[in-house]
Amino acid sequence: MENKQLVSLITEKVREKKELRNLDEDIIRERVLKYMDENTKAFEKILGYEKKEKAFSSKEFKKAIKELRRYFREIYGVFIEKNYLKIDKFMKKLSEDNSAENHEILLKMHKSTRERLPYYNDIYSKVFSIINIKNKKRIVDLGSGLNPLSYIYMKKYFEPEEYNAVELNAGDCGIIRKYFEIMGIKGKAFNIDLSKEENLKKIPKGDIVFIFKLLDSLETQNYNISYNLFDFLITNNYPCLVVSFPTKTLGGKNRIDICKRKWFEKIIDTYSIKSTSFQVPNEKFYILTK
Ligand SMILES: C[S@@+](CC[C@H](N)C(=O)[O-])C[C@H]1O[C@@H](n2cnc3c(N)ncnc32)[C@H](O)[C@@H]1O
Repeated sequence: MENKQLVSLITEKVREKKELRNLDEDIIRERVLKYMDENTKAFEKILGYEKKEKAFSSKEFKKAIKELRRYFREIYGVFIEKNYLKIDKFMKKLSEDNSAENHEILLKMHKSTRERLPYYNDIYSKVFSIINIKNKKRIVDLGSGLNPLSYIYMKKYFEPEEYNAVELNAGDCGIIRKYFEIMGIKGKAFNIDLSKEENLKKIPKGDIVFIFKLLDSLETQNYNISYNLFDFLITNNYPCLVVSFPTKTLGGKNRIDICKRKWFEKIIDTYSIKSTSFQVPNEKFYILTK
């Protein structure tokens, strides 16, 4: 078997899992290549088998698939609720009737928005009373997931002239574009991988940047990339950042100790940013302004 063929086969195999089917092939392929680079011995063995079947049933191959799937589940799959695959059907329903009920069905398809659903009014009322919204027009939502669909809650407190989302998952980007079209919102969804430093300059301009529950995931993908992200946003004069962190692990059992996020406090100190925080169940918000 050739190397190229093996990369394609592994990529396909990783994507076989329902919760990972929506993830971009290129993103998986890139990670597979990196994984192969880091595990050369195992892959020499896999490539050494004459018969494909033998290679696929080898313990090295199984381990690789398992570890790669675990990685992608951690950065993406775990956020998706079971009925996400039916999302197109519910988007169609929303286009016929954009009621709060139909919004809720969609917001429940992503773990973060589902969990936040009872608190959106509270969150947005707090966020937009702390931020001075005068002259603020554009929202940028980084690693947005389905959060742009919470627009119906946000608009009671702040109605942006433009809403731009940045998301790794191409499927989510498609949903957001459709959503903006249905609701007549001026905005775009950019399919960008924020774990890569060279991509940060592609972040659209904005007055208020949402970074909800994204940083832990970015750090898993590229250690210390959060520093580069904040450096980019602050040196490029994004005036207001709203950052959130989960206060519990996804399983809900363990509390994540906010004190352990010392690196985040360091960023606040380094740039002498003004920081205000508040908490809702399961999530802590920081509003950072210059
Ligand atoms: C925990 S979810 C939070 C979603 C949304 N911000 C919210 O709080 O409702 C993390 C999101 O970040 C996205 N994400 C993960 N890695 C990313 C990357 N490298 N670049 C852009 N988005 C990413 C995931 O696809 C997922 O939608």
